[in-house]
Amino acid sequence: MFKIAIASLKGGTGKTTTSIMLAEAAELAGLSAMVVDLDPQSGGSCRNWADYAAEEQGLRSLVMSISAKELTRRLPEIADKRDIVIIDTPPGSENTAAAAIRSADLLVIPINARLADMERVAGVAHLADEVGVPVKVVLCRTRPRVKATQEVRDALEGIGIPVASTQIDEQEKIGASYGIRPTPHALRSYSVLWDELKG
Ligand SMILES: Nc1ncnc2c1ncn2[C@@H]1O[C@H](COP(=O)(O)OP(=O)(O)O)[C@@H](O)[C@H]1O
Ligand SMILES: [Mg+2]
Repeated sequence: MFKIAIASLKGGTGKTTTSIMLAEAAELAGLSAMVVDLDPQSGGSCRNWADYAAEEQGLRSLVMSISAKELTRRLPEIADKRDIVIIDTPPGSENTAAAAIRSADLLVIPINARLADMERVAGVAHLADEVGVPVKVVLCRTRPRVKATQEVRDALEGIGIPVASTQIDEQEKIGASYGIRPTPHALRSYSVLWDELKG
């Protein structure tokens, strides 16, 4: 099983969207995916998304909420049963991010591809370096022909932080996937991202 921690320390960078959409893309590819939600208290969490979706078809992937404290103890049993486990984290808690990262095979840091959003990336990437976990930044909400996207990519790569070549464009159909089972069309860029991340 492959375990991915999703963390950025900032709010609104696309962590929850990336968690659910990657899990759904892995399910579309025939794997079994579990999202572990360490941020169930926030509105717009993975838990909320799954609960809303359950009123209709439900998500393809499973979502469970646990506390960061329980993660180390419960993860082996969870990971054993699924091909991929994605751990979504809250903003603001370095301890929770660190717990998720320690348990993972890869740290994915979603960021809005804007210069102002780069600030805390090095800090969270450092948490992964300390425990030898590889890192990929994913540029989210990218817009065509906007120079900042390439500037952000160059700046991060310039300080040695790897950036996934797959970018997630700003798309209405991605925003509109919240609370429902995402369509294969909405999942397209996440399917490409999943192929890249699994290596
Ligand atoms: N690629 C995208 N295109 C359009 N809207 C997006 C995209 N990615 C995220 N969003 C929207 O951005 C907002 C913040 O995303 P979210 O995943 O909840 O961030 P976080 O979990 O880091 O706080 C949500 O309203 C979400 O629907
Ligand atoms: Mg979130």
